[in-house]
Amino acid sequence: MEQFDVLIVGSGGAGMRAALEVGRRKGLTVALATKIFPTRSATAMAQGGVNGCLNNVAKEDTIETHTFDTVKGSDYLGDQDAIEFFCQRCPEGILEMDQMGAPFSRTEENKIAQRNFGGQSYPRTCYSADKTGHVILHTTYEQCLKEGVHFLQEWYLLDLVKVDGHICGAVIWNMKEGKVETIKTKAIVLATGGSGRIFWTRTTNPFLSTGDGMAAAFRAGAALKDMEMVQFHPTGLGKTGILMSEAVRGEGGYLLNSEGERFMKKYAPNKMELASRDVVAKAIEVEIAEGRGLGGSGLDAYVVADLRHLGPEVIIEKLHGIRDLAFSFEHCDPLVPPVPIRPTCHYIMGGIDVVDYKTCATELPGLFAAGECSCISIHGANRLGGNSLADGVVFGRVSGAGAADYAATHEQVECAAQLEEKAAEWEAKFKEVTARKTGRPVVEIRDALANAMWNKCGIFRNEEGMTEALNEINQLIEDYKTCYVGDAERTYNMAFVNYCEINSMLTVAKAIVSGALYRKESRGAHLREDFTKRDDVNFLKHSLQYLQDDGEYKLTTRDVVFTKYEPQERKY
Ligand code: FUM
Repeated sequence: MEQFDVLIVGSGGAGMRAALEVGRRKGLTVALATKIFPTRSATAMAQGGVNGCLNNVAKEDTIETHTFDTVKGSDYLGDQDAIEFFCQRCPEGILEMDQMGAPFSRTEENKIAQRNFGGQSYPRTCYSADKTGHVILHTTYEQCLKEGVHFLQEWYLLDLVKVDGHICGAVIWNMKEGKVETIKTKAIVLATGGSGRIFWTRTTNPFLSTGDGMAAAFRAGAALKDMEMVQFHPTGLGKTGILMSEAVRGEGGYLLNSEGERFMKKYAPNKMELASRDVVAKAIEVEIAEGRGLGGSGLDAYVVADLRHLGPEVIIEKLHGIRDLAFSFEHCDPLVPPVPIRPTCHYIMGGIDVVDYKTCATELPGLFAAGECSCISIHGANRLGGNSLADGVVFGRVSGAGAADYAATHEQVECAAQLEEKAAEWEAKFKEVTARKTGRPVVEIRDALANAMWNKCGIFRNEEGMTEALNEINQLIEDYKTCYVGDAERTYNMAFVNYCEINSMLTVAKAIVSGALYRKESRGAHLREDFTKRDDVNFLKHSLQYLQDDGEYKLTTRDVVFTKYEPQERKY
């Protein structure tokens, strides 16, 4: 059995920054467990930038404007006190990354470069060409190594363990050795990222984004908040859904329909392609639904992003990663023809309910959450591009400090017996499920889930479709109980890991559909065909879901926090 004062789970921007914060505290031990090699997390795929009011390009920008843009972007579902706290801390978080050596692109005056991004009043998004997440992640990793953070790589979180309501340990699958490990700890920070893979091939997320932390926290008794809020990034590559950064539009790229029309003028006459993501994604889908797409029907349809007028200098210097991706996955050079694009699942605004944004504490003593797996809530019903890396930088640090303070002031809750018991359950489960000779294959369940989610709880939603999706998910949960795993090897048994991941995906998907059925309005990314208007009278509320003993989900609500921004109609 391992023991650390603080355990971080997840090695993206938030987890890595949390680990660094604890690592800097003298006298505390910290481990970071991750199911991959640390620098291969989803953050490494974040392209366009990180938001913070630095005034390097726009002198008129203010923290207050960043705050208002974020509140408006959230369609007034974000908690305004948390958003203020966040926007105040973005600049110092970015400057710290710069000082630690992150190679940001620079202005002529050698300041950090800032570009336009969707839904923002000024060029505020700091960037490193189109590889911003990659450089932030590597920079933070180097600092974690320097501070002696203990990395447990290729360790997959199975379950959290609690005693008398206090989180005090975790049971983890050691993928390389094929065995169950136990860790005793005073505080855990979950920073396990999103769950875009519930849409399987139509997502920007890597294969690892399967909602494991959300599901583990839910099983342990934490609430999942605002799970219905799923962001579809407007510009996924046509065939694969791979991210084509908003930087493409930030640098001046256009979106065109089959008539060669810059159709955004009909939907967002002022901001055009730089309206917020929910607005642009909806516009693309409406264009396709009304017959102005290219390429065919169903998922073969697309519109195009035209970059040609930007010229080789901008494309090669600032968007070279995008160019490579377009080459590799669309066989197209953005310098020549426009690139086929279509919305793709990108981000879950909902997540583990954080009840104190100043520490990232959850309702469960000893459990903290940060980054995409958490819901603080600063993104509300629609996250602004560039606010995700900023979220990781800011709340990674806050959660690390929160967990470190907690660990420094609390005794370790004795839980060796509970950990051993849970580990024995998982060992028995490994033997049982991998020995099965029959059952519905895990991949079939995964594909059926993705179909149900995309077709019935995707960009456009209605009661009938979502009720069908919920019934299908419930059936898949039944099928899962006897599913076929197919590999009984111990070392690197990815079939077993996939088996565990599909359980997380089913758990999260059910919460998304249940939340979406509850919310009888359209707000931000949640677009209901049967309730097309925002309803501030009945739904200025967060949805909270808890797992009951009988396996059903109980939904309650909590009012949104307002400081000074009254809800207005959103226009871009
Ligand atoms: O489009 C992008 O580069 C993505 C950024 C983000 O989601 O924050």
